[in-house]
Amino acid sequence: MALNTTNPTETPSWKKLQKHFDEMQNASMLEMFQTDAARTEKFNLKWNDFLIDYSKNIINKDTMALLLELANEMGLEKAIANYFEGDVINQTENRAVLHTALRAKESDVVKVDGVNVVPEIYDVRSKVKAFTDQVVSGERKGYGGKAFTDIVNIGIGGSDLGPAMVVEALQYYSNHLNVHFVSNVDGDHVNEIIKKLNPETTLFVIVSKTFTTQETLTNSETIKKWFLKSASQEDVAKHFVAVSTNMQKVTEFGINPENVFPMWDWVGGRFSLWSAVGLTISLAVGFDNFDNLLGGANEMDDHFKTADFDKNMPVVLALLSVWYNNFFGAESEALIPYTQYLQKLAPYLQQGTMESNGKSVGRDGKPVNYQTGTIIWGEPGTNAQHAFFQLIHQGTKLIPSDFIGYVKPLYGDVDHHDKLMSNFFAQTEALMHGKTAGQVQAEFDKQGLAADKAEFLLPFKVFNGNKPTNTILIEKLTPKSLGSLIALYEHKIFVQGVIWNIFSFDQWGVELGKQLANSILEEINTEKVKNHDTSTEFLLKYYLKNK
Ligand code: F6P
Repeated sequence: MALNTTNPTETPSWKKLQKHFDEMQNASMLEMFQTDAARTEKFNLKWNDFLIDYSKNIINKDTMALLLELANEMGLEKAIANYFEGDVINQTENRAVLHTALRAKESDVVKVDGVNVVPEIYDVRSKVKAFTDQVVSGERKGYGGKAFTDIVNIGIGGSDLGPAMVVEALQYYSNHLNVHFVSNVDGDHVNEIIKKLNPETTLFVIVSKTFTTQETLTNSETIKKWFLKSASQEDVAKHFVAVSTNMQKVTEFGINPENVFPMWDWVGGRFSLWSAVGLTISLAVGFDNFDNLLGGANEMDDHFKTADFDKNMPVVLALLSVWYNNFFGAESEALIPYTQYLQKLAPYLQQGTMESNGKSVGRDGKPVNYQTGTIIWGEPGTNAQHAFFQLIHQGTKLIPSDFIGYVKPLYGDVDHHDKLMSNFFAQTEALMHGKTAGQVQAEFDKQGLAADKAEFLLPFKVFNGNKPTNTILIEKLTPKSLGSLIALYEHKIFVQGVIWNIFSFDQWGVELGKQLANSILEEINTEKVKNHDTSTEFLLKYYLKNK
């Protein structure tokens, strides 16, 4: 069953939210804390080893009630059922959206066109496990009879960002294999990687759902050419494996069909790390850790499917995001993990969020008359504090931020961790409290600053505060908790898409650039610049003359 096509702005709750916003837009969080001692109790969620405190938001109980009403009026409950049951909710591509099936339990039944897909998912998982065990143990060898030491993941977008983010995040759990990622069609990227490698001990994992992506095919051919300088054509089958739905193209490349890990068209690229696209993750940290990652995601799936909406972490985060995006006019959201391990979380979720919800046509085929996808950006704290926090604190834009932190560090270095976490807590407090003119003046008085200097400096030192944050505090960074965290954001994206009445699982917007690049490449190759606007023609001619 398809998702409904209601324009959210025409629901009664949206209209009530608009009115409610008029009352709330200047509300002070601090005052709300002062008048309600139980505020934190009301606005926090606990689940497994996750705690989300969302009390530092410009909301009251009416806000949440109205946002929940909106979720109900947009048919969220039914939409969640459609999503998990494999209905064709990606209508523009005529596909189900079933990355959740990839982490389902073996006993679960998930049907696509009447066929339970869980057994084939588990077959591929067994293949990933067997392959991982052989490579990690050294049983599987390269052409020279030596065990593999290096793995290169060749892919782009969803075939790169997910594995790259998770391998980085779980490096504490990694084994002896050195893992590299080649994604950009920029030849300098692949050449920088190649120069570190020994072909005899390197395994290449080509990840491309379609096996037609220009970047991935170009990089794969370049690497194969380099490889063939020291090895024979038959050795390609030993050193190159592929993850794809396109058997024909993969075989044409020279990959042994036994070394092809299938995936399915009901898995979107940006949600595919749970499939064999995660092979590089499994190789880097071992299959059991990969399996735990999937287990953590599956637990979040259960939470999302079963928890009441007011206790449901993805739903609450999505509704808060809608509140700021559509009523406060916030354009972006910052993601600040207080762990260096999650340094690639923001780029990963940029694709997840922006490729999914960067849409301007509703499910009814009409242009939307409201804002959709938020811009996602961020960097780990405390680095971020020394880079862009100034703008969040004192700039002119409202930037709701998620702070993600862990109670326990992995190496047990309490001194570092307490310092890290004191910054984590201090920042959300500072963002909400700000600093009043009275507080600044009191500081000046204490320092004995001359009155004329104090008068000049005062306005620059005032922080307005009242900046919203969510605090996501997790026990420890483990494969399982990481799986839950990623799934949390995946479901947040889904809920937002349902509310914004858009198709979150296609990405037609990236096609135009790809088509134009192909025809421009032809012009560059033939040195015949065809009809373009004068700017593009001028640039192309300059390039051809000077290259
Ligand atoms: O950028 C568009 C896109 O289709 C992504 O959605 C996808 O993750 C990426 O290209 C790579 O595609 P493929 O896995 O088919 O090479």
